[in-house]
Amino acid sequence: MSLKNRLASLVNLVVGPSGRATRSADPVRDAGPSFPQRTSTMKTLLAIDVSPRYEHSTSRKLTALFVDKWKAAHPGGRVIDRDLLKTNLPFVDLPWIGGAFTPPEQHSPESAAAIKISNDLVAELQAADHIIIGTPMYNFTIPAVLKAYIDHIVRVGVTVVDNVGQLTGKKTTIILASGGDFRPGSPFEAYNQASGYLRQVLGFIGLTDLDIVLADRARAGDAGETAVEQFGEVLASAAAA
Ligand SMILES: Cc1cc2nc3c(=O)[nH]c(=O)nc-3n(C[C@H](O)[C@H](O)[C@H](O)COP(=O)(O)O)c2cc1C
Repeated sequence: MSLKNRLASLVNLVVGPSGRATRSADPVRDAGPSFPQRTSTMKTLLAIDVSPRYEHSTSRKLTALFVDKWKAAHPGGRVIDRDLLKTNLPFVDLPWIGGAFTPPEQHSPESAAAIKISNDLVAELQAADHIIIGTPMYNFTIPAVLKAYIDHIVRVGVTVVDNVGQLTGKKTTIILASGGDFRPGSPFEAYNQASGYLRQVLGFIGLTDLDIVLADRARAGDAGETAVEQFGEVLASAAAA
């Protein structure tokens, strides 16, 4: 199936052929941080971008297209933009571990400070009805910044309790941009370590209703040229659909 058709199917899947959302909001667990939570009437999309290539980025272009489609189908809905390249995410360190594995009243000032960004990111997820992640494939898996993000949102006692994911009742869409072709049946399908990992780790925190769009054969990065040009026609058609 062409990327255009895959994206069109995806949009239909998300908003329904009628253009109206088909899912009802679930009760929200509160991890403690404050962020406007979900209501039954207002839908929220959390849009996560990962690529450092900005205007040259295939995943960013496709994510933006998806956001436009989603907004059109959800008048009054709100979009939370989370650009990981602008978030300055720290890696897990000792104060962070202290913050994640001890009750707040026992936090040192360092642990409280270290865990704040994690709490904020979790709150965004809790507030969302739909999460879209646009990411490149790097070296057959996800970029380090996305792994750093995942380390912040997999929180024992918060997003996973007794090995049960808590972020249920949400839909997740991943756009995975790659230079190579990793579609099912292609010779390099097994090299794709990103899809399986994302499905597993996001499923672990409850995001089991997950679709992955392989935006493959972008052939970008070598000369810093615009990879998106190859998808230009597809993007234009999909945007007009
Ligand atoms: C550091 C780096 C590693 C990459 N590794 C792979 C890879 O393992 N497999 C692949 O098919 N493409 C790889 N690519 C190509 C990117 O996945 C491709 O350019 C994709 O379009 C990047 O997403 P973006 O356009 O949203 O930035 C790599 C690119 C870079 C810069």
